[in-house]
Amino acid sequence: MAGHLYHVLDTRGFDRPLLDELCELTTRLRGIAKSPEGARELQNLLPQARAMLYFPQPSTRTFLSFNNACHVLGIRTSEIRDPATSSEVKGESFDDSIRTFSSYVDVIVMRTPEAGFAARAAALMDRIARPVPIINAGSGKDQHPTQALLDIYTLARSFALRGGIDGKVIGMMGDLKRGRTVRSLCGLIKNYRDVELVFIAPKQFAMEGDIKLQLDAQGIRYRETSRLADALPGLDALYVTRMQTEWDTAGESRAMDYGQFSLNSATMKRLKPDAIVMHPLPRGPEIDTAVDEDPRAMYWRQERNGMWMRAAILLKIFRLEDRIFSLAAEGLPEGPDPP
Ligand code: CP
Repeated sequence: MAGHLYHVLDTRGFDRPLLDELCELTTRLRGIAKSPEGARELQNLLPQARAMLYFPQPSTRTFLSFNNACHVLGIRTSEIRDPATSSEVKGESFDDSIRTFSSYVDVIVMRTPEAGFAARAAALMDRIARPVPIINAGSGKDQHPTQALLDIYTLARSFALRGGIDGKVIGMMGDLKRGRTVRSLCGLIKNYRDVELVFIAPKQFAMEGDIKLQLDAQGIRYRETSRLADALPGLDALYVTRMQTEWDTAGESRAMDYGQFSLNSATMKRLKPDAIVMHPLPRGPEIDTAVDEDPRAMYWRQERNGMWMRAAILLKIFRLEDRIFSLAAEGLPEGPDPP
């Protein structure tokens, strides 16, 4: 067994054995869930557990995938999505709100517009009598660690027959400056050998210096370009991101030239036949819907992978990973390996 998980705040603490185990766990449990007997076994894993989904910042897939991952494992869920429906409107502080959630549940999954609030919640948990694990489901412009984990799973699965993630050239395109998904994913690349990153963005939305310093310190090769067409032929994977318009203060996103930073059927011709295209979604004009039909488009699978990886994360936190591996060993019928 790889190390334990408790709070999941950023991607720094993840090592290769833990990533490999999470990927294996994800594949095993989604296989088990495909048969009625397996689904029932999974439902009986955590019937005593309760989760709080605190999402004052909007979300579709992270919220739904965590909610459904909990239900797959028998975990009951509560939610606050609109702070106007909570006692925050009466002036209750963030710390008191989180402490209150922890009185009723066994894990808190939270997305906030502010960077650092998940870490603050975790620090609070570490001081109180009934602490519960905190999972960061997106914090400001800074971190989205569970997205990065499902991204790693998607990359590893896509390259399973080609030596895995090691040695691949991964492009990241779009609003890299304000995109927490790419920042978190960069934090996991150190776990793979000889990966090269290519940051493709207009200068005003280039990757921030703190991430580049981190990559320098880890000896990870990266280069920067604003020419997508030139970069495409050398990539094994292209991770596309949208403009993070919600952070605009003076319409900065209007400066984005989508003609130069978008994929369509014509630009896809420049990508290798066995390359993949990823996107954390939701998308804007940066990927034409015609690309959806291309077998290299991996973003809908990536989205589906999210629920299973989040279920694996919950299983690790509740230390039930051995149960999954023994269920598989017991010969419980597994469904077909999903695409
Ligand atoms: N990828 C992602 O975080 O999507 P949502 O904002 O819909 O949760």
